[in-house]
Amino acid sequence: MKVLGKAMRSIWVEADGWSVGVIDQTQLPHHFATARLAAADDAARAIRSMLVRGAPLIGATAAYGMCLALRQDASDGALERAYALLVSARPTAVNLRWALDEVRRAVAPLPPPERAAAAYQRAAALCEEDVAINRAIGERGLALLQEAWARRGREGRVNVLTHCNAGWLATVDWGTALAPIYMAHDAGIPVHVWVDETRPRNQGAGLTAWELGQHGVPHTVIADNAGGHLMQHGLVDLCIVGTDRTTARGDVANKIGTYLKALAAKDNGVPFYVALPSPTIDWALQDGVREIPIEQRDGAELCDVTGRLPSGELATVRITPPGSPAENHAFDVTPARLVTALITERGVCEASPDGLRSLFPERTQAGA
Ligand code: MRU
Repeated sequence: MKVLGKAMRSIWVEADGWSVGVIDQTQLPHHFATARLAAADDAARAIRSMLVRGAPLIGATAAYGMCLALRQDASDGALERAYALLVSARPTAVNLRWALDEVRRAVAPLPPPERAAAAYQRAAALCEEDVAINRAIGERGLALLQEAWARRGREGRVNVLTHCNAGWLATVDWGTALAPIYMAHDAGIPVHVWVDETRPRNQGAGLTAWELGQHGVPHTVIADNAGGHLMQHGLVDLCIVGTDRTTARGDVANKIGTYLKALAAKDNGVPFYVALPSPTIDWALQDGVREIPIEQRDGAELCDVTGRLPSGELATVRITPPGSPAENHAFDVTPARLVTALITERGVCEASPDGLRSLFPERTQAGA
């Protein structure tokens, strides 16, 4: 996608041929800055501190973290240490474990001197796969937006509500939930996006609004609690969100607040779609509410707000009384019954065991 008119991805190998470049997402939308990762520790820190975030990008960063570790020490012990370091960086997005497993499977059978090169090859391939998956999700989802546009009699605009950031910043390119929106916009469908601010870290207000703006997609930032009201007044044609882990029966973990949007959508007859790349499916799990680990982050993310002063300087201010405790549950789970359909790279399916298996027949419920 484009930044200041220039095409770029969210992660790349630097000109030195080994270190890894990423966009520092903690500085957006105020500053566009990149960061260089030179060791597995850097990659783990970038994931933990959310310099990079979004399930697919967390996976890609972890894959390159393995490359950086193996470059320094390609022994069996170092491989396992890097895996353990990176897999514990964040708990909810299953893409992290998936990407690490992919790299480990590719390099473990090789003699140590061949491992680093093979890891770079696998990490690069994972990134290309992510781009292809997201492009396919975009194409599948575009059909849903074309239908919504037809339902409107091609009048006005198609209003899509999204939560958090499931755009290209959260992936290697295109995004998942935003890919259909970019394609619809490029195809001339007048699409407008209601962007949930997404407290506490404001991935909607800061990241989704920024990347939609970079691509020229009309959008409006709304308070997290506004979606239900907009739906009651017919101002939302459909919702599309991303996911960090979806179980074999179609329960969907995503950024905290997603569940409430799904409830409001159900109550108002608004279709609620989840864009789901297959590496985000945890085939070993069924009951998302009970089984998906939910990340608990520092309460300070809730109590402190960072923004830009009129002088251009950034400032962080506290909005809660001193001494008030805060809990920061970073994700919630939307049960499959509230999801209208899943948009995968292989097609759109019902959020159910049968729906998922119809598109991924090679998988069994036992986690094959
Ligand atoms: O905490 P974050 O910013 O990593 O959470 C990201 C989300 O919840 C996204 O919606 C999800 O990862 C899907 S990204 C394509």
